[in-house]
Amino acid sequence: SEAFKLKDHPKLPKDKIIALVVLDGWGEANPDQYNCIHVAETPTMDSLKKGAPDRWRLVKAHGKAVGLPTDDDMGNSEVGHNALGAGRIYAQGAQLVDLALESGKIFDDEGFNYIKQSFASNTLHLIGLMSDGGVHSRLDQLQLLLKGAAERGAKKIRVHVLTDGRDVLDGSSVGFAETLENDLAKLRDKGVDAQVASGGGRMYVTMDRYDNDWNVVKRGWDAQVLGEAPHKFKSVVEAIKTLRAEPKANDQFLPPFVIVDDQGKAVGPIVDGDAVVTFNFRADRMVMLAKALEYEDFDKFDRVRFPKIRYAGMLQYDGELKLPSHYLVSPPEIERTSGEFLVHNGVRTFACSETVKFGHVTFFWNGNRSGYFRADMEEYVEIPSDSGIPFNVKPKMKALEIGEKARDVILSRKFHQVRVNIPNGDMVGHTGDIEATIVSCKAADEAVKMIFDAIEQVGGIYVVTADHGNAEDMVKRDKKGEPILDKSGNIQILTSHTLQLVPIAIGGPGLAPGVRFRKDLPEGGLANVAATVINLHGLEAPSDYEPSLIEVVDN
Ligand code: 3PG
Ligand code: CO
Repeated sequence: SEAFKLKDHPKLPKDKIIALVVLDGWGEANPDQYNCIHVAETPTMDSLKKGAPDRWRLVKAHGKAVGLPTDDDMGNSEVGHNALGAGRIYAQGAQLVDLALESGKIFDDEGFNYIKQSFASNTLHLIGLMSDGGVHSRLDQLQLLLKGAAERGAKKIRVHVLTDGRDVLDGSSVGFAETLENDLAKLRDKGVDAQVASGGGRMYVTMDRYDNDWNVVKRGWDAQVLGEAPHKFKSVVEAIKTLRAEPKANDQFLPPFVIVDDQGKAVGPIVDGDAVVTFNFRADRMVMLAKALEYEDFDKFDRVRFPKIRYAGMLQYDGELKLPSHYLVSPPEIERTSGEFLVHNGVRTFACSETVKFGHVTFFWNGNRSGYFRADMEEYVEIPSDSGIPFNVKPKMKALEIGEKARDVILSRKFHQVRVNIPNGDMVGHTGDIEATIVSCKAADEAVKMIFDAIEQVGGIYVVTADHGNAEDMVKRDKKGEPILDKSGNIQILTSHTLQLVPIAIGGPGLAPGVRFRKDLPEGGLANVAATVINLHGLEAPSDYEPSLIEVVDN
């Protein structure tokens, strides 16, 4: 732990209690009726903006500032929390896969050579999110992978798709399916037996996270591995169009389906000897499936059959668990994160959120690692999320429970850093329900108030920020920023994240009077927050971290 020793900050005291609050999906945007944060009553967050101009500012949470390929890439929780925790900008999964595909290196490395051994006599299965959202996966990467595998000897390919509607517009799955079908038809012309084999909506099939609901993974397993599903179709386009025609259907929640041949037999169950690639680069929503595909010992649901396959992830999803053991592209090596530094410098750390965002303030925060750095210095608490109901039905979620937990821990004075994620703006924003999102933002603001009150009582400091935008803009807009109307004059709801900047504010009775945001970092982003927080703990940040946002003036 000598390697982790940090110098004392010359001006700022140690041992302050700091509340570090991440509002998920809380960006800054023009105040109009589609800005749920503006419409909601959010007096606590409003007062920060109005209060002290040199203790409130905006930071970048999208694009290159968080390691994404371009500045047209919206932010997301993985890259946002990675940047917040690591204090440096890493080329992230999306970009690492792009580079590996561009150079062709992906096809030379260990992971691809491993799955290639199945090509001569078995099927290659590709499972993942069919989307161009760039958050978990990208369709153009799948297209290049398909082409590359066929050129390198894959004779039989089956694609298992998950429809999106969360990182992209609802309904866009039809177009993606048509594009994919077209590519597969071209492969068939070249003599490759290539087809879609199964599908389902990402939130109902396969892409659960943080062990919230294993039934989701089981539904996918039944369709992908066993070839069984309640719905059977001849093609993926027909499947999606038919299932979307049901009342209230949407891409995120389509039921599982399998594609069958003329005899009604599933075209692509996964069997012994096959190769399987999960082509999502993002970890959180692939870890559960990866465990089901890889672990011999497994008790989360009855797999019925556990085929002996060659399995590779697009990336390795968990560095600590080494899961999966084979992967096509090496993940970013996020090391020496702020959490690790702080515990080795006497900063006792507490982290908490509800299930659906728990891994964000722990796993993502710590550079995609599960577990503690030092169990004697840290405690992570997960508050169970409501399960089995959509978040727009209970839009307050567990905001107040998270607030209460943080308050109690702050008042106990047992920890120096109390870090929470309040999920409402994001999770309810993704449902596209504007009324519910307004309620959710109010609840998030109330939780912040509870935490601030506790900080007031212990003479502590607060830092409040967000990981990316979502709830501040709920409508699809044209280049001028005007809502796009369809032929019947309806708006298109934006369920996804945004490209907006996010606020960061500091304050509390423990904040030294001369602390203010510097004026010379106008381009500052989420990666600048770690050094800022380390300073507020009375320490100098490591020299390779992005610079701190604060300075201390004598007054
Ligand atoms: C999800 O996984 O729910 C969305 O694709 C991204 O949301 P998050 O980045 O806020 O988790
Ligand atoms: Co989100």
